[in-house]
Amino acid sequence: MKMKGKHVVLLLAIVGVALLFFGVSINAEETKSPEVIKMNNTDAFAKHKKSIVTFEHTKHSAAKPDGYGISCGKCHHDADGKALELKEGDAVKGCLECHDKTEKPKKPKGIAKEDWKAMQLEYYYGAIHADCIGCHKEGKAGPVKCAECHPKKKK
Ligand code: HEC
Ligand code: HEC
Ligand code: HEC
Ligand code: HEC
Repeated sequence: MKMKGKHVVLLLAIVGVALLFFGVSINAEETKSPEVIKMNNTDAFAKHKKSIVTFEHTKHSAAKPDGYGISCGKCHHDADGKALELKEGDAVKGCLECHDKTEKPKKPKGIAKEDWKAMQLEYYYGAIHADCIGCHKEGKAGPVKCAECHPKKKK
């Protein structure tokens, strides 16, 4: 009787530890920052008219000279737009959670330049293009032309 009880306790302990490891490993899987992202956000766009952009995520943040040495917070920010301090493995929110308007914005007639800029940022489309193209232009490195990111589809 006594031994049986001990065995049950031991078994429960093993199961518990196993579950812990299992849980942790699932978590790590979820938050592991992706190396390459196929930018195919079907929540933002009902249909992709352009080809899918391949974004070398890790390469952008990896240290030079192998990567481009860009800090995570240059792209990932908080609800005030303030750069986040992240490390590998940290979870982040998708851009669409805040830049939550879908599809491509339509420019209203006669809108002031600043207002149009702000309006575009409300859209996932605008936030993504401003982020990617903005930096490539500023740094004079990286693609700025449509077809450089959206390569012509092979027919
Ligand atoms: C630096 C890379 C880059 C450049 C340059 C770029 N795009 Fe994009 N574009 C993206 C990314 C990333 C997305 C987001 C796709 C997603 O997450 O689904 C996107 C999304 C889009 C979408 C919405 C999805 C679709 O396929 O319908 C359109 C339309 C689009 N881009 C058109 C353009 C046009 C037109 C230009 C040139 C004026 C351009 N892009 C330049 C990276 C780029
Ligand atoms: C050059 C811009 C850029 C840099 C630098 C960058 N990221 Fe990202 N990251 C993105 C974009 C864009 C996405 C896709 C977001 C989306 O789909 O809404 C993304 C996605 C992610 C995801 C996945 C989110 C999900 O929901 O699947 C994680 C995790 C992440 N990044 C973490 C990091 C960490 C940690 C660093 C620094 C080591 C980093 N990122 C550096 C732009 C960047
Ligand atoms: C938690 C909410 C939140 C998330 C998630 C988020 N943003 Fe933002 N973003 C903001 C806010 C708030 C601002 C400031 C808006 C303003 O100035 O009008 C901002 C500003 C920006 C700007 C303009 C920066 C400038 O200097 O003018 C860009 C570009 C941008 N975000 C792109 C992205 C991209 C790309 C992602 C995903 C990798 C992302 N954002 C994720 C809330 C968010
Ligand atoms: C803060 C700056 C910065 C941001 C933001 C940024 N990039 Fe880049 N990107 C670079 C630099 C630097 C290079 C390297 C150019 C070179 O060496 O010729 C580059 C190169 C690229 C290239 C060509 C080489 C490669 O690695 O594939 C693509 C495609 C690209 N970026 C896509 C994107 C997309 C898509 C986004 C937005 C989700 C983005 N970039 C955001 C700085 C940035």
